[in-house]
Amino acid sequence: MSEQTMHYLHLEEKYGAHNYHPLPVVLEKGAGVFVWDVEGKRYYDFLSGYSAVNQGHCHPRIIAALTAQAQQLTLTSRAFHSNLLGEYAQFITSYFGYEKVLPMNTGVEGGETAIKLARRWAYDRKGVPENKAKIVFAEGNFWGRTVAAISSSTDPSSYKGFGPYVPGFELVPYNDLAALENALQDAHVAAFMVEPIQGEAGVIVPEAGYLKGVRALCSRYNVLFIADEIQTGLARTGRMLACDHEDVRPDILILGKALSGGTMPVSAVLADDEVMLTIQPGEHGSTYGGNPLACAVAMESLRVLKDEKMAENASIMGELFRKELAALESPLIGSIRGKGLLNAIVIQHADPEAAWNICLHLKELGLLAKPTHGDKIRFAPPLLITAEQVKEAVGLIKIALERV
Ligand SMILES: Cc1ncc(COP(=O)(O)O)c(C=O)c1O
Repeated sequence: MSEQTMHYLHLEEKYGAHNYHPLPVVLEKGAGVFVWDVEGKRYYDFLSGYSAVNQGHCHPRIIAALTAQAQQLTLTSRAFHSNLLGEYAQFITSYFGYEKVLPMNTGVEGGETAIKLARRWAYDRKGVPENKAKIVFAEGNFWGRTVAAISSSTDPSSYKGFGPYVPGFELVPYNDLAALENALQDAHVAAFMVEPIQGEAGVIVPEAGYLKGVRALCSRYNVLFIADEIQTGLARTGRMLACDHEDVRPDILILGKALSGGTMPVSAVLADDEVMLTIQPGEHGSTYGGNPLACAVAMESLRVLKDEKMAENASIMGELFRKELAALESPLIGSIRGKGLLNAIVIQHADPEAAWNICLHLKELGLLAKPTHGDKIRFAPPLLITAEQVKEAVGLIKIALERV
């Protein structure tokens, strides 16, 4: 490791909170599927900022929209109107087929917003008694780090030592429609909030038909279906939304991450009037939510996804990637799972550090990936990756596996 790299690692260690455990690589540049470290070494980025950089690093069109708007007007707050918010609202609602959008910044704020909407809808529309609304989540869920988000978490490293927790949350096993039906029979349930594929849990793909089943149960019991597509959405899994694989339409759709192509925090909550108009002026918002810079960037980020057929490419490249990985027949790979370019392998090895060590070897070889939950490695490159690059990357993975 060079002195320069050590210097940056030392600064973060000494002056930054120790709330992450990054790979020892210091990046300073990105373009498309690649990033470069401070020593000038190039890497494939197989994390894509946890699926925020679907369009590739520093996509020229997104950067052009960002810089043009940055010189015009960046923030008005919602105390005033801007010339871009209405245009953006019209654009994103027609893009996804909803009547209204509520703009926020980070993904977790999108989740909080969806829960507030569901609770309010339950009181105003469903007739749930005040303060009795329940939200059901799936075990293994991840939707961020706020107190509400960790209150629904089943991962002790998320919630332990941060109580007391937000009440009114219930859990059912993921991918279990019978358990869900049981929970939804409670007349106080406002919503079921779920990831179509669980990302942070290690890319858990439910059985085909699960989302259709969720949709049917939510309709039957008058419960809102909230889809957290912050990680699965925006072409990542080979369709614009992961829900599109089963042709289901959630009542509340949460988007984030790639909504800005990795340039700034932009999230959005989409719903129809019956849900969205339950919240009145002054009851919810955010200083930066819906700012003109975010509006310009989000519109261009969405246009790029369609213009460059990124969902189609993710679907084809995902198939190729999983096929090539399977062909390695590595005894270290316990299973390969995923959809489109949201993939993971489970490492089987006596050493609990094996997945981390594989990632360190990959880094040396020029590919960045990060283990999750100890034994899983997620592979989620930007969606413009080519077949040749997929094959080269699998070649690097092969070498790394052989070195462990
Ligand atoms: C499915 C899902 N929801 C919500 C979030 C939270 O997003 P943010 O980190 O922008 O708050 C994440 C982040 O990884 C996520 O994967």
